[in-house]
Amino acid sequence: AKLLVLHGPNLNLLGTREPEIYGRATLASIDARLAARAQAAGHALECLQSNAEHVLIERVHRAREDGTALILLNPAAFTHTSVALRDALAAVAIPFIEVHLSNVHAREAFRRHSYFSDLAIGVIAGFGADSYELALDAALRRLAALTH
Ligand code: DQA
Repeated sequence: AKLLVLHGPNLNLLGTREPEIYGRATLASIDARLAARAQAAGHALECLQSNAEHVLIERVHRAREDGTALILLNPAAFTHTSVALRDALAAVAIPFIEVHLSNVHAREAFRRHSYFSDLAIGVIAGFGADSYELALDAALRRLAALTH
């Protein structure tokens, strides 16, 4: 199946951005690990990072046409602000897993609310770069369950 990983604003700075909160792994290294694991399991995985809300929204729209089976989504700061990106995910109705590197519940109060969690299959937060791998594990299990 086709998997899509979407990273929101400022995640291009991973590695140097507040490493005590987000860790030292770069986005390129995270994406490479995810793609290798998905491929080993017989799936295709594409990653996109954008700092622009409309770019993420338009990629979600295209996911409906390109046969994307599941999305891993770290909306970053858009988690707490973007009704528009939420509406895009609701519109295409593609199942998605919400991912955060940090434990958003252990930080500022404004990070506790997400515009995505109630639409997501589930949420993984607080495990640093491993959050993405745990989310991919969950996605692979779900895809396997669907095809058996
Ligand atoms: C984040 C948490 C958000 O609150 C923050 O705005 C981010 C990253 C995370 O992965 O921990 O940019 O989504």
